Amino acid sequence: MTIWYGGDYNPEQWPREVWDEDVRLMNRGGITLATVGVFSWARLEPRPGEYDFGWLDEVLDLLHANGIRVDLASATASPPPWLAVRHPETLPVTEDGVRLSVGSRQQYCPSSPVYRERARELVTRLVERYAQHPALELWHVNNEYGCHVSRCYCDVSAAAFREWLAAKYGSIDELNRAWGTAFWSQRYDSFEEVMPPRTAPTFRNPTQLLDFDRFSSDELLACYRAEVEVIRARSDVRITTNFMGFFKPVDYWKWAQEVDVVSDDTYPDPADPMSPAYAAMVRDLMRSLGGGAPWLLMEQAPSAVNWRAQNAAKSPGQMRAWSYQSIARGADGVLFFQWRQSAAGSEKFHSGLVPHAGTDTRVWREVEQLGAELGALSERTGDDAIAGTRVPSSVAIALDWDSWWAVEQPASPTTVSYVEVLFAWHRALSSLGLAVDFVRAQDDLSGYRVVVAPAHFVITDAQAANLASFAERGGTLVVGFSSGITDEHLHIRLGGYLGEPLRAALGVWIEEFAPPAAPDLRATGGQAPPPVPLTGELLGDDAFGVVWSEAVRVEDAEILARFGGGALEEWPAVTRRTVGGGRGWYVATLPEHGALRRLVERVVTDAGVDVLPVAASGANVECVRRGRSLFVINHGPDEARIDVDGMDILTGRAAMGLVLPPQGVAIVGS
Ligand code: GLA
Repeated sequence: MTIWYGGDYNPEQWPREVWDEDVRLMNRGGITLATVGVFSWARLEPRPGEYDFGWLDEVLDLLHANGIRVDLASATASPPPWLAVRHPETLPVTEDGVRLSVGSRQQYCPSSPVYRERARELVTRLVERYAQHPALELWHVNNEYGCHVSRCYCDVSAAAFREWLAAKYGSIDELNRAWGTAFWSQRYDSFEEVMPPRTAPTFRNPTQLLDFDRFSSDELLACYRAEVEVIRARSDVRITTNFMGFFKPVDYWKWAQEVDVVSDDTYPDPADPMSPAYAAMVRDLMRSLGGGAPWLLMEQAPSAVNWRAQNAAKSPGQMRAWSYQSIARGADGVLFFQWRQSAAGSEKFHSGLVPHAGTDTRVWREVEQLGAELGALSERTGDDAIAGTRVPSSVAIALDWDSWWAVEQPASPTTVSYVEVLFAWHRALSSLGLAVDFVRAQDDLSGYRVVVAPAHFVITDAQAANLASFAERGGTLVVGFSSGITDEHLHIRLGGYLGEPLRAALGVWIEEFAPPAAPDLRATGGQAPPPVPLTGELLGDDAFGVVWSEAVRVEDAEILARFGGGALEEWPAVTRRTVGGGRGWYVATLPEHGALRRLVERVVTDAGVDVLPVAASGANVECVRRGRSLFVINHGPDEARIDVDGMDILTGRAAMGLVLPPQGVAIVGS
């Protein structure tokens, strides 16, 4: 089965004669899939209603003649300037009332009926023309929904928000109740009075903010759906739209149900040593969004990007190593932005598979090498296949967009970065060689032995009941601080945080927050609070908690670690309750990495989960099982020795103890 290899192909940026060289080089590089037309609207419809498809016909035919499949974009990600000139109301407005201009990209209000109509019209033409094209492999709807403009505060959006609210609440009284508008004289007498949360004198209503987050994600999804409807009516080819990892503005759980294949764009910073660990978490999310099905890495950079303050080039072998990381974690394709590095425009300093300097370059040689390898791996079939196989996992982390939106709202006890908290847990678990799935607290969790719910700030009754029953039925539930604080309307769960039934399952409740406070914030320059010592054999010596601490009241649980200083000295920090065959852990702080790793090791071994012994090879060595293969990747700066036997599929050599250079990869068959 094919492991796709390719990238965004923008031939409209180049004269015709370059196209022939493009396909020649694509064949040399082992390219099998090209994403075409992502930013082609202005070229495809130069004037309203006047279409020019001739050039795209030629591009698709040329790719087909050269055996390259096409991921055809719907081209709606960036409307042409004429749309804004004729319909200025299609331009999005910021919360401060600034109307954004043309001359960049993605300048459309997601709620604009005019934008949606023009987009549908273009997509209709495209699908009518290319649905039967023999090169067509995949439809690529829009591009990175919400990347630059994830919400719009204009009058059109305001009207759409009111409609969304009316459908949700049914009456203004219900909205008033849900939003708690008895506070600060915010009561609305009718939906007409309700506004999007535009810039206001001080804190805006928290539930209004949360509903606007939900609404904005839904509005983008409505844009996606409008295009999908057009495509599905005329084509059986699979449809995707490219996600962006942990992207706060868009609730990908909802979206993932509507794509045929999950695809993702990820640009880890080569200069950040934490990038491989963070990227591992992103890949695990993508696999999980599709319910474990293979996904596509739709975009990554061949080397440097151009949008950071400092744009580090990837080190030799890093592009390959990170590509294999995606495959190890379930991807059936590795694609890039973009094929040929642009000569003009805002992205001319973003790397391409064909660099400015041409093919006598390190980047191109690495492109050819990886293409050849993926071509060989694609030949593997049956039990030996890699593409199409699954990544087994018995450990999951609950991820909840409502909690993400809510826990980071202003006027909260402290500033918690939701994704950083998830990352800490994921990193600790994956350092044991565990592939970690992401789930929703309301999902069927019976396939997992361990479920961790960190900072599940917002929790519905159904979610809390499902987590509790997971533990009661023999699972190991780990709940992290800042969980179970509010219901879905952001109303506090009174009578002790956590609320029923988690309180019963875990045998604890939370009396008060006590974020570790710096004695003098000026002394730390207003930076994060200092760590709090933690005591208890479980976490080892010199363990510390960071970010947060809570006063835990124990009703029926063992205390396995305590706060060893600060306002909560001697109070419980980690508790465990044994319920039937299951366990309920509560962790009232974020232990730093070493301590958290010890904690999760205990949690998973208690739960009977096998950790991969080779994972002990070193902090920089990543080990993941996919299907019958073990992927081993050395992300570190030094050579790594890994104690594993088997056949390295990449070299065809028997591996009796692997030695991997920096960025080295081995795929060990069973
Ligand atoms: C995103 C976009 C691409 C390009 C890259 C650059 O992923 O989809 O069009 O701008 O970023 O990194």
